[in-house]
Amino acid sequence: SKVQYKEPFRPQFHFSPEKKWMNDPNGMVFYKGIYHLFYQYYPDDIVWGPMHWGHATSRDLIHWTHKKIALFPDKLGMIFSGSAVVDIDNTSGLGTKENPTMIAVFTYHDMKGEKAGTTNYQTQGLAYSLDEGETWMKYDGNPIVKNSGMKDFRDPKVFWNTDTNLWNMVLVAGDHAQFYTSENLINWKFESEFGKNIGAHGGVWECPDIFKLKIAGSHEEKWVLLISINPGAPNGGSGTQYFIGDFDGGSFKTTQKDIKWIDNGADNYAGVTYNNAPDNRRIFIGWMSNWSYARDTPTKNWRSAMTLPRELSLAKINGDYVLKNTPVEQFKKQGTNAFTKDEIILKANQKTTFDYQYLNQSAVQLNAKNENLKFVFSNEVKDSLVLNYDAKGKTFSVDRRHSGMVNFEKSFGEKIHNTKIPNITTETIDYQIIVDWSSIEIFLNGGVYSFTEQIFPNKPYTKLSIQSNENQEIKNLTISKVKGIW
Ligand code: FRU
Repeated sequence: SKVQYKEPFRPQFHFSPEKKWMNDPNGMVFYKGIYHLFYQYYPDDIVWGPMHWGHATSRDLIHWTHKKIALFPDKLGMIFSGSAVVDIDNTSGLGTKENPTMIAVFTYHDMKGEKAGTTNYQTQGLAYSLDEGETWMKYDGNPIVKNSGMKDFRDPKVFWNTDTNLWNMVLVAGDHAQFYTSENLINWKFESEFGKNIGAHGGVWECPDIFKLKIAGSHEEKWVLLISINPGAPNGGSGTQYFIGDFDGGSFKTTQKDIKWIDNGADNYAGVTYNNAPDNRRIFIGWMSNWSYARDTPTKNWRSAMTLPRELSLAKINGDYVLKNTPVEQFKKQGTNAFTKDEIILKANQKTTFDYQYLNQSAVQLNAKNENLKFVFSNEVKDSLVLNYDAKGKTFSVDRRHSGMVNFEKSFGEKIHNTKIPNITTETIDYQIIVDWSSIEIFLNGGVYSFTEQIFPNKPYTKLSIQSNENQEIKNLTISKVKGIW
């Protein structure tokens, strides 16, 4: 518990940089018992600037150790988003089989080229580490993927495809994704493109990811393509959509017609998943912010945090594929001092109120009838954050208009965020609500829907009231303090 982790709004159990500006998660790879997290980082200010890759490591995805900056800008440009792999078979020839290299593939953004009015100033570069991520060298043949003149050409996700025994890369080029293959991580062959006429296109496509998942309770497998877009998300600004389909190593195909979002809150962007996570788990981390106001939020020494690491899974609900996301198993160990109620019967318009001094750093869990239900988090200075489930309208809303400081930017507290949730079809609903000083994460039915939002209460929330204008039955309520990690 270092002094700098006690500043106003500092998350106590989410990853945030010790100081200065952070955006996208990058280079997420598991190797020799360690989860590596790199991230877009500007070490000189709390606003975006010439990008570096910051670095942190964890054994459990909950506790993090800050490491030295991994990648610095060089004469080819700033270091934008990308991914990392372990070259176990030394396909690149940059290491040995005895000591495999960690390889990062990222975007070079050449400021000089941009200023000069060229359009090919984003290219893909490679860096490697021979000491398990401690120190990094740039490959001297960079860039490894040149740009034939596309203004936006970035965010390569590289992974080993076990179906084809080849490396795959997916990157974004403005309004679509492109797929590449390689035998050695250095020479890449263009295979196909996807997305020009499908999905949400309110803004430029960013930070793609693609992976295969089994549908729960069956042997069917599907590929999931994640695409972040900015702007054009349902609540304004940045958001992450996904496509379910098939991928043969060369091209991605889908019959999906509707637009699907991995999270329905305003603050989960640029999220991607781990390579090589144990037990075939698909673990996702997103940046808990939104380009609409990322640089305006009222923190001082640092800016922004990551979502809790979440496990992704696929389900079929009403004949439709749904990507679920839920906090990783390890998170359960962080809860302490839980107080519990087996059953609460609420008459219409009755409310039950909990005064809890640790509410600002808590996890609330309960199961309730599939009927209207409202949660109000509040404090002594009358800030209130309101979550509301409208059963008839099949709508869940997050209202942060009066949640605390909201005026630092126009859109932040402007609207109630309403989301249609047709895939909540169960007789009772599981609610999981996690508050960490400047964020709230809500998961319905184990992550069939999630909502992630930043909040800046003027004083910590200490009161939670739960109410309904219907008769309600609440089961298995727990409220726990979540232990800090710093
Ligand atoms: C997404 C993004 C990426 C880019 C990076 C720059 O938030 O715009 O497309 O690589 O941030 O920091």
